[in-house]
Amino acid sequence: MSQSFEFMGTDHIHFIVGNAKQAAHFYQTQFGFELIAYAGLETGNREQASYVLQQNKIRIVLSSPYKVESDLNKHLVLHGDGVKDVAFWTDDAEAAWKYVTERGAQTVMKPTVLKDDFGEVIMATIQTYGDTVHSFVQRDNYKGAFMPGYEVKESLINVEPIGLNFVDHFVGNQPEDQMQKIATWYEEVFGWKRFWTVDDKDVATEYTSLRSIVVANENERIKMPINRPAAGLRKSQIEEFVEYYSGPGIQHIALDTDDIIKTVRQLKENGVEFLEVPMTYYEELPGRVGEIDEDISKLAELGILVDRDQFGYLLQLFTKPVQDRPTLFFEIIQRKGCTGFGKGNFKALFESIEREQERRGNL
Ligand code: FE2
Repeated sequence: MSQSFEFMGTDHIHFIVGNAKQAAHFYQTQFGFELIAYAGLETGNREQASYVLQQNKIRIVLSSPYKVESDLNKHLVLHGDGVKDVAFWTDDAEAAWKYVTERGAQTVMKPTVLKDDFGEVIMATIQTYGDTVHSFVQRDNYKGAFMPGYEVKESLINVEPIGLNFVDHFVGNQPEDQMQKIATWYEEVFGWKRFWTVDDKDVATEYTSLRSIVVANENERIKMPINRPAAGLRKSQIEEFVEYYSGPGIQHIALDTDDIIKTVRQLKENGVEFLEVPMTYYEELPGRVGEIDEDISKLAELGILVDRDQFGYLLQLFTKPVQDRPTLFFEIIQRKGCTGFGKGNFKALFESIEREQERRGNL
């Protein structure tokens, strides 16, 4: 069915965190995001403090509740620091909202016009899996820093951008048996398509495994793998996530770079912790992926992984969780033609994650 609106990509990702002021510092110093806007008591917001940070096309919002009884606080208590809203940028928020709600999506906020001196933003919000939501943001008539309700606020420290460009994909973890249902929901409600799948034969280690379905919108600027645990000898990383997040939620966000060696080197200097793979991974690499532009010794030094499909190859690396609960983490990705998600790296990665799970007493 044709749609009268378009999603042009991810508008912003909204995190609920325990201390937004300090989290904003973390994303500036470790990930090179620039502070651009703020809302809170000083701007008339009595409910929450929100910091907006940006690097190229990636915008993140970090919010902390002021009040015990607020919904944000319930989210925080239940899930810990995590993603509440993956907001999509659209040319027609009302049409997008109408389309998905006519097909069964539940409304959180009807299309609402937000205005200030810099113009207007139209925004609507719908519910997806767990407590996660999607907002639709239409901002063609807005010239301000972020959106009405926010004031300009700049970084007080010198922030070095590290070459992160846009959100390549984001991943939702589901409890047992929910993956198929959720993927079908995106197909039926959003009119999205299946993009790529793996079955558990592809991604099993000795102990654990998962299944994944990827859905994408028409122009493929929004790509979302949906994971579920598959039967294994030990507790899978997906089960560990679901346990500590108290249900389904966003597991990782993949951020694009044009120069992964430079970006990862800077992230490591900034103190970002990454998963590690054994050196044997690099001994087997030339045989598995063939010729690549990069010097393998440099990739090995930084722990960058490589995978190939029929269209080209990709380079990727995963951080450790960015909060105390073993839930959300980031992926850094550089694509050189490859449209996949690193299936060839899953085994090495899962073994690395299992070593971490073991240390946490959760394997
Ligand atoms: Fe990923």
